[in-house]
Amino acid sequence: MRQTTCSEKQETFYWFSLEVKIAEKQKKRIIHVQNQAVYRIKLTTECFFWNIYDRKQKNKAMLILNNVHKSYVTGNNSLHVLKGIDLTIEQGEFVSIMGSSGSGKSTLLNILGLLDSYDEGSYYLNGTLIKDMNEKKAAKMRNELVGFVFQSFNLISFKNAMENVALPLYYKGVTRKKRNKIAMEYLEKMGIKEWAEHMPNEMSGGQKQRVAIARSLISKPKVILADEPTGALDSTTSYEVMGILSEINNEGITVILVTHEHDIAAMTQKIIRLKDGGISQIIKNGELRAFKNQYTKQLETA
Ligand SMILES: Nc1ncnc2c1ncn2[C@@H]1O[C@H](COP(=O)(O)OP(=O)(O)OP(=O)(O)O)[C@@H](O)[C@H]1O
Ligand SMILES: [Mg+2]
Repeated sequence: MRQTTCSEKQETFYWFSLEVKIAEKQKKRIIHVQNQAVYRIKLTTECFFWNIYDRKQKNKAMLILNNVHKSYVTGNNSLHVLKGIDLTIEQGEFVSIMGSSGSGKSTLLNILGLLDSYDEGSYYLNGTLIKDMNEKKAAKMRNELVGFVFQSFNLISFKNAMENVALPLYYKGVTRKKRNKIAMEYLEKMGIKEWAEHMPNEMSGGQKQRVAIARSLISKPKVILADEPTGALDSTTSYEVMGILSEINNEGITVILVTHEHDIAAMTQKIIRLKDGGISQIIKNGELRAFKNQYTKQLETA
């Protein structure tokens, strides 16, 4: 056997260690590339699921407001009414908005119903960003999604109850016969079918509000916005109207109403309080009940 010289051994070792180094480097590179690929797949998967989750959340929420501001400018004066409203209302919620006169309740409701624009922030209605929308598109979305109920009923005085209820279908191009038939169904649902031929001035406040609610429902909205719907009614009729709104809500329609009355607000699931241009408090009905119970107990034991 040939004796290897020391220098040969050294050379072999040199090449061997070089190979090891190269292999290690390659291995490291492979591992690095593999890690990067795994990381990328992980990131893509996470993004994918996050997008689905995000979309689901946005779909679930009927409306989302982020930092919404609104000012009214008259002449040289500017009145900053809403100063950064953050609010999410889920599909099927029954919510009341409270606050002192001039706190911006109607302003907020008008923005929610696309009757007015806002200056800053973002507002999503049923997953659609409402920003700088032209009147035509806003009117289309309003017709599809929103029903309005007002304190003063806003019925057309020279049309009877049935014609008033049928009006939104007229704008949708539904024939007179068909829209009157559907209007009658809604009047029946509201328990005032026999008042179909009567003019608004022949009806009581409660009856007029039922007509107005029937009209708001006829285009099958997802949200009902009601600005002080019981403001012009006595307490018995107010409770009846709240009963109707509650039934509507039970059918899955989101109901948002503005009220000054605590007992009316207590009939909803959530109370949003406006103060100084912002939301000062959100009280959930469960909490409200718990608070009331605790308060009553304290009074009893005092
Ligand atoms: N179109 C407008 N132009 C100028 N100022 C307005 C306009 N609409 C409302 N305002 C002002 O904005 C503020 C908020 O009005 P908004 O009607 O939203 O109050 P509100 O909370 O509904 O009050 P109320 O309980 O009396 O109905 C008020 O000071 C009001 O004078
Ligand atoms: Mg108002």
